[in-house]
Amino acid sequence: MTTEHDHNDMNAKKETPCERREFLRTCGCALAGIAIAGIAPLVSGCEFTHINSAGETPGTGNGRTVEIDVSAITADGTGLMTDVRGPDRKRIFVARFASGTFKAMSTQCTHSQFPLAYDGTGLYCTGGQGHDSRFNLKGEPQSGPAVPFGPVQVYPSVYDAARKVLVVTVGT
Ligand code: FES
Repeated sequence: MTTEHDHNDMNAKKETPCERREFLRTCGCALAGIAIAGIAPLVSGCEFTHINSAGETPGTGNGRTVEIDVSAITADGTGLMTDVRGPDRKRIFVARFASGTFKAMSTQCTHSQFPLAYDGTGLYCTGGQGHDSRFNLKGEPQSGPAVPFGPVQVYPSVYDAARKVLVVTVGT
């Protein structure tokens, strides 16, 4: 036989709604933590390595013209690696040729799209082992696996001699 006192004790052992909520909240947090820990390695493995390996950032010039100050390119047969990005997110390289004519081009390697760098004589691929292509100042591959893939993309450009600025069309 239960007394009123025993009956109150039994009620006291029941979970209150607040305790149940706390339990569910705790379980939810624990499950979320497990899920994040399991997914994080998968997400970090999906980085765009071709872009990030050279610190490239998203393009800024898609769909318009950009003006590039070429006053620093004072000698024919030299070039300038600019900070201006083309629609492929790679820097735009400008080379100067005889009589002060200029050519603006992408620095995306035509083999596997690694960025190209300038060494004072031409462009070379930064892709590492197996990606040792070299390009001349016209953007034409001279050696390496990019040869069958042809030249880099050349952007139409017009030189404004009065301002020493090259107006480059980087998109439509
Ligand atoms: S990506 Fe440039 S040679 Fe392979």
